[in-house]
Parts: sequence; structure tokens; C-alpha cells
Amino acid sequence: MYTDILIESQTHDEWLQYSNSLWDGRRIDVVKKIINLFTDPEEIVLDPFMGTGYTLVAANTLDRMAIGFEINKKYITTADERLKIYKDSYQIIKDSCININKYLYEESVDLCVTSPPCWNILSHRHIAYKKHKETSSVQRNIGNTNSYSLYLNNLTRAFSGVYEVLKANKMCIVIASDRRKRNRFYPLHIDLTNIMTDIGFTLEDLIIWDRRKEHSILKAVDNSCIYKSNIVHEYICIFRKITKESRIL
Ligand SMILES: C[S@@+](CC[C@H](N)C(=O)[O-])C[C@H]1O[C@@H](n2cnc3c(N)ncnc32)[C@H](O)[C@@H]1O
Repeated sequence: MYTDILIESQTHDEWLQYSNSLWDGRRIDVVKKIINLFTDPEEIVLDPFMGTGYTLVAANTLDRMAIGFEINKKYITTADERLKIYKDSYQIIKDSCININKYLYEESVDLCVTSPPCWNILSHRHIAYKKHKETSSVQRNIGNTNSYSLYLNNLTRAFSGVYEVLKANKMCIVIASDRRKRNRFYPLHIDLTNIMTDIGFTLEDLIIWDRRKEHSILKAVDNSCIYKSNIVHEYICIFRKITKESRIL
């Protein structure tokens, strides 16, 4: 899609066309676009919540090195299967990303792109998570808590580790969706921004990823007459690592 155009031809008109703040398309194309925008070939891309490996596939397709952390054995197997053609240019670490510093050197990563697990994941009607209910993975799944504040604490731990391994001034892109639960609205992209700022990142940009095509069947959000939207978009939050020294200035 648009990713190759960005690299190969950068006329003013094309740049304008692809630099708008509303994106659509498949996850793999969105992730490719991000990787193209923020890295050069052979640089290292990290996904601390790898899932089935879209980020690693996108990175390898674009000749970047890729590292993913994942705790769900089923997803690891799927990712491995997808990635095996790329041989030595990726690494899957089968452990919680909370332990990131055990595996990666400080300031060794050029870009982080990820979608963190949803909060309260076991209460979702999301089939995949219910089916693969392995006790150990469930316990370490940072989305597996009823408490939203505990979930935010878990995200803080995970992204503090990412901060350490990311090179100075490099980007951490977090794709996240707000949530509504029992009539309460949880603006994750705002809470995430506060967390990331406290860790030492700065919010550089916010893109809306329009996912209407995947949510074509809309339903009334509840029975009240008060307007509530169906959430059919995600936020692509673009953070930059600011060094401790430059934060003091
Ligand atoms: C939203 S999904 C990621 C989707 C992924 N970007 C993809 O392309 O498939 C979040 C993933 O984080 C994983 N996860 C949850 N807690 C984790 C942890 N502590 N360390 C590593 N991965 C974790 C879950 O198993 C899940 O696969």
C-alpha cells in the first residue's frame, strides 16, 4: 500500500497525502507504515506484546531486525510459523516483557511498536483469550485484572522497561483503544499519555486509526437515551524518549 510509496517517491503532494492524521487499512499495513516512517533498514524494532507477530513480520518484510516478547504459547507458535522464512532476523522471547531488562541491553532498540493487551481481558467475549486459559500466561497477562488502576500500574512497569532499552530520542508507538465498561468511559489514550510522560516520554503526535470497516455491525451501546458512541477507532500514540538530562533542562 502506501508504505512503499513513502520510501521510493517523496514528492510534496505524496507526502501531504500520506501525512494526514486519519489512517485506515489493515494492521499489517499500518504497522509497516510506522516502521517505514521511523526506522532505516537493519535497525531494531521491538514489540513487547507480540501476539501473533504482525510487528515482527512487518519489520522483517522491510529488512529490519525484530524482537518480540510474548507469554501465550499458542501465539508464539503462530508467530514462529509465520516468521520462520526470515531465519536470523527476528527473535521471540518467551517471557513477560516486565522482564525486558534481563534480555536486552540499555539503549539498544531503535523503535518500539505495540498494542498492549486490553484491560480485564478475561471478561471480554473475545474467544481467543478464553480458549487459551493457561494459568501461568493468564497470571502474567498484564490485562488480566479487574482493577483499571492496577492495569495502568502494569502498563507503567512494562513501558518503564521499554524506556530503558530504547535509544535516546527514538520513538515508542502505542496503538490503543478507549473503553466503555458498565456505563463508565475509560480514556486509555489519555491515561497512557500521562503514564508515558511520567516515565520520560513525550507525546509527539496522535493519529486516529479508522477501523469502521471491521466494525460494520453497530449496536445500541445501552438502552438509555443518552448518546454513546460505538468505538470504531484506535489511537496511534506517537511518543519519543526524552533523556533524563534533557528533561532537567
Ligand atoms: C493486543 S495483543 C497484541 C497483538 C499483536 N500486536 C499482534 O499483532 O498480534 C496483546 C498481547 O500481549 C500479550 N501479553 C500480555 N501480557 C504480556 C506480558 N506481560 N508480556 C508479554 N506479552 C504479554 C498477550 O498474550 C497478547 O498476545
